[in-house]
Amino acid sequence: MFTALDAGLLGRARKQGLIEIHPHDLRPHGLGNHRQVDDTPYGGGSGMVMRPEPIAAALEAVTAAAPGLTRILMTPQGELLDQATVRELATLRPGLLLIAGRYEGFDERVRAMVDRELSIGDYVLSGGELAAMVVIEAVARLVPGVLGNPESLAEESFAANTLEYPQYTRPEEFQGMRVPEILLSGDHGKIKRWRETESRKRTARRRPDLTADRRPT
Ligand code: ADE
Repeated sequence: MFTALDAGLLGRARKQGLIEIHPHDLRPHGLGNHRQVDDTPYGGGSGMVMRPEPIAAALEAVTAAAPGLTRILMTPQGELLDQATVRELATLRPGLLLIAGRYEGFDERVRAMVDRELSIGDYVLSGGELAAMVVIEAVARLVPGVLGNPESLAEESFAANTLEYPQYTRPEEFQGMRVPEILLSGDHGKIKRWRETESRKRTARRRPDLTADRRPT
C-alpha cells in the first residue's frame, strides 16, 4: 500500500531530505500470541472493530520518537479533505501522524486519542492506508522544494476555489480541434483575461458548489 512513497515526486523528495515519512506497523503492538489488533463488536453485528490498545501503544511509541505531531484518524466519518485543508495541514509543524485502520471501523474510544478525523471522500475503502497516501501526496507537493515549478501552484484547480482554465500544448491542430487563437496571439494581458473567464465559466458549469464560496481562501 505504501510502495508509492518511493516513487516519483514523493520518492525524490524523501531522498533529497525535503520530507520524512515513516510507516509504522500496528501489528507489533497487537495483543496476545496472534498480535491481534481487532475484535468482534459488542452488541453483535458483522465485521471486526479495531481495538484501542494497539493504537494507543503505537501512538505512544511514535510520540516518544517524534513528539508534537498532529494526530489524524483516517475515516469516512471525518471532515472532508479539500485543498484548503491540505494547505492548512502543510503548515503544521513538526508534522502529521496519520492513523490508518483496516476492517470495519475503530472502537469509539480511539477518537479520544486524536486531534482530528479526515475523510478523502464519500465512499468506503477497506482500509485507511490509501486515504493516508492521498493526504501524504497532496500535502507533500506543497512543501517548499518538492514541486519543480511552484508557480503552477497558484494557477492550479482549487487555488482560488475555482477549476483551472483549459490548457493546450502542441500540436496546434489535433483531429480537427484547434488551439484557441488567443493562446497563440502572444498578447499576455488578453491571455490572462481569457483564462480567468474560462476558469470562471468552467467552475460555474462543473462545480457550482465551489462558487457558493463555502470557505474564503
Ligand atoms: N477509510 C476507509 N474509507 C475512508 C475514506 N473515504 N476516507 C478516509 N479513510 C477511510
